[in-house]
Amino acid sequence: MCGIIGIAGVNQVAPKLLDCLKRLEYRGYDSSGIAVTSGDGIERLRAVGRLSELESRMESKTPSGTTGIGHTRWATHGAPTVENAHPHISPQGTFCVVHNGIIENSEEIKKTLLQGDFFESQTDTEVFSHLLEKYYIGEPINAIAKALAVLKGAYAFGILCSDFPDVVFGASSGSPLVAIGCEEGGFISSDPCAVNEKIKSVYRISGGEICCVGKDRLLFFDPSGQAIEKKPESITCKMESMSKGQYPHFMLKEIYEQPRAVSDTVNSLVKMGSVFLPDVYLDDDFFRDELEKIVIVGCGSAYHTGLCVKNMLESMSGVTCNVEIASEFRYSQPVLNKNTLTVFISQSGETADTLACLRLAKHCGAKILSIVNVKGSVIATESENVIFTLAGREIAVATTKAYSAQLAALYSLAIYIGRIKGKLTSEQEEKLVSEMLLLPSKIEETLRETEALSKEIANDICRAQNIFFMGRLCDYATACEGALKLKEISYINAQCYPAGELKHGTISLVDEGTPVIAILGESRVFSKTLSNMCETEARGACVFAITDKAKETLLSQKHKTISVADTLSLFRPSLLVLPLQLLSYHTALLRGCDIDKPRNLAKSVTVE
Ligand code: G6P
Repeated sequence: MCGIIGIAGVNQVAPKLLDCLKRLEYRGYDSSGIAVTSGDGIERLRAVGRLSELESRMESKTPSGTTGIGHTRWATHGAPTVENAHPHISPQGTFCVVHNGIIENSEEIKKTLLQGDFFESQTDTEVFSHLLEKYYIGEPINAIAKALAVLKGAYAFGILCSDFPDVVFGASSGSPLVAIGCEEGGFISSDPCAVNEKIKSVYRISGGEICCVGKDRLLFFDPSGQAIEKKPESITCKMESMSKGQYPHFMLKEIYEQPRAVSDTVNSLVKMGSVFLPDVYLDDDFFRDELEKIVIVGCGSAYHTGLCVKNMLESMSGVTCNVEIASEFRYSQPVLNKNTLTVFISQSGETADTLACLRLAKHCGAKILSIVNVKGSVIATESENVIFTLAGREIAVATTKAYSAQLAALYSLAIYIGRIKGKLTSEQEEKLVSEMLLLPSKIEETLRETEALSKEIANDICRAQNIFFMGRLCDYATACEGALKLKEISYINAQCYPAGELKHGTISLVDEGTPVIAILGESRVFSKTLSNMCETEARGACVFAITDKAKETLLSQKHKTISVADTLSLFRPSLLVLPLQLLSYHTALLRGCDIDKPRNLAKSVTVE
């Protein structure tokens, strides 16, 4: 979502701010802006739409100075207009702020502390710039601390003060922010990868802390404004992965990176034919004697990976596994205790709802285990036990390689628990592990063999207005992911149903030519799903089937059928999803959609 950058002590800072914002583009945004401070006050430029709009404004009028802040905004409070775009300036022009998060009590603050003030935007952020000026008596850190004390909600701020034109201030609570010392200047950012300089040290700002960043100095303060010492963190970002290489889109590149993503993840969790989890510190006794329930929590595709492995986890652990949508779970009254294992799945490690659930589970005394792709992210940092997926940086909004790596991590967790619980003999574990190690080559084979037919089917469905996906058990989870992928990047209304549910309502929407995509990976219910497929076909649906090579011959030749490589049923979700990713990609391509940056969507959803 919103991206923040702040730079102090760099010659002609405006083009550099823009360059950094380009590295934050992948997070999703709908307007952008920069502000630069020099001895003569603060100059600001803002634009709606892509960064190219801001760039063309800069060409006619580049603000001059060595210190500035920049922002990409994903609208929450107020439409994406120039007035609502950040940075926001205080009434007298003393402070200028960019913000990520939501100030939940902004209306209340306007009515009480800022009564009578005129606001030029509908944003919650502008309130903060007014508060800073209200509390300012020549000392910015005190003003920031006082203003922060009033706020409710999550925030990361970048702040300029016109009386201190050589430094940028930052503050954060519940939203990512780092202060970075570089050979050339000091930086703050919501994502260290925005900074393409020689980095000397990185410091995470959190829990209401404040920082002051100058050309050669980084100073830190606690929420009350007292100076503190902080230890640098080892946060790295491989810049090479920010390039599309030979591919026209990041999404396609990431689809083809899946064999590597799964191989790296699995190999980091397997030793001598057995699963080991290097960053999981729970005792075997916990799994063996105390574990009563597993709860998996995630959003979007991460939630779907949980659905895919629910049954596997239940059979390996012998306890119930519930899979929960984070935004719902956090407001329910979940029964969690020290005998519950809560598993949080997140590519970014930043998703606000997933993080809130983690904190809730901690509060209830449940055991915490997170599956995270970004090392050093908030969710990874706040979890006692972590399984890192090694998908590498994912840029396309629609996840592919991180999804596959999450599945691999979850299979590993299930096998690990199965061994401790005595559900698996060492021979059985070895057999599962060796098949899991074959997944990367089977993914490669499946991608190679299914791309042409996926393209052909994309051509058949690209003009449809509604598409239905169906499947049973794990296939239902895969179908959910297929429908989500298709709707998010091609903007076709794609709905997913457990196959047996279709005739309880949705089948009334099926008429001549409606595309129906059936996933038939589960052998146990193959004939059941096949019957449901025939029911839609009898009503005119144009049916496409996704299955594996072993079951392909059981389907009539009149259906267009994509067959993935054969594997054990437990691991089949990893292969069945691949043609669905390709199908979404090619459908979106045919429809001329902006594949890597679909409208209204963000890569990291840092507000609830
Ligand atoms: C967004 C992304 C999805 C992702 C979801 C959860 O909606 O577009 O691809 O699955 O957030 O994100 P997380 O980073 O927690 O996995």
